[in-house]
Amino acid sequence: MHKPVMVNEVLKVLAPLDQETYIDATFGAGGYSKAILDKAKCSVIALDRDPDAKKRAQLFESHYQGRFSFFEGRFGDMSQLIPAKHYDGIVFDLGVSSPQLDEAERGFSFKTEGPLDMRMDKKGLSAADIVNTYDEKEIARILWEYGEERKSRLIAHAILEKRKERPFTTTAQLAHLVRDIVGFERPGFDPATRTFQALRLYVNDELGELEKGLECSENLLKDGGRLIVVSFHSLEDRLVKTFFKKRSGGLPHPSRFVPETQKAPITFHLTNKKALLPEESEIKENPRSRSARLRWGIRVKGNS
Ligand SMILES: C[S@@+](CC[C@H](N)C(=O)[O-])C[C@H]1O[C@@H](n2cnc3c(N)ncnc32)[C@H](O)[C@@H]1O
Repeated sequence: MHKPVMVNEVLKVLAPLDQETYIDATFGAGGYSKAILDKAKCSVIALDRDPDAKKRAQLFESHYQGRFSFFEGRFGDMSQLIPAKHYDGIVFDLGVSSPQLDEAERGFSFKTEGPLDMRMDKKGLSAADIVNTYDEKEIARILWEYGEERKSRLIAHAILEKRKERPFTTTAQLAHLVRDIVGFERPGFDPATRTFQALRLYVNDELGELEKGLECSENLLKDGGRLIVVSFHSLEDRLVKTFFKKRSGGLPHPSRFVPETQKAPITFHLTNKKALLPEESEIKENPRSRSARLRWGIRVKGNS
């Protein structure tokens, strides 16, 4: 069963009103879209790069007639995908959806055996392509940069040794190898977590997408529009935090030799500089929410 993460906090910040139009940039199982559409007589334009999300979205199109539409594609291309107008709010709920994690066939989970895939849009290079063809240095770099895995070099070396015997085809094969090398560090934490996160981020260019998605949002929001981002690990959260800091004038001016007129314009107002975290009760009920961080900003338009 899919439980949308921090949905009450999202609704509080977005504060949906009748006649307004919002973008749900990460439709997934539709938890946010549903909550928004049930809150007010507003409209939602939803996006997802996963072709499976489209099937779920079709039910929404018939249930919320005229108030919901869906576009398959990446939020980094949002400006080209959806109608060009100014929106009242945009929400991002990053990472993978429960249906993606729960379906072993998609290859996202180290808990179930499935093909080593991890492609959200089911095209391009899969995780198996990477571990079976990339050189040792590049695999180590990916594990370190996108997973902050301290044993990245050891794991990369072991992958290269193992693939001489036979290529990696399943999630279980890779998870076993990583567990053997990293060893169990603390109860309740699977040592394969960081390696799987790294490959998933790389395969789907998730950080590149996030940067592009935030930039598109800046252009698509009207004055007073709300931008809300729920992220699940420090790499994403850092990027979102820096984006808001830069756009709200929170970063120091680069140098006194750069004229005032070349200062980055202020495009967001932050009512809260700290991220919101899920309530203890939500974490208990839905452990997947435990690493969630919600940040938001209000679009302000001077001459930007
Ligand atoms: C955490 S889930 C969203 C769950 C949703 N809020 C709900 O309540 O059901 C993230 C979704 O975003 C999608 N996604 C991730 N990166 C994307 C991107 N760059 N463009 C479009 N969709 C993306 C994934 O395919 C996944 O379905």
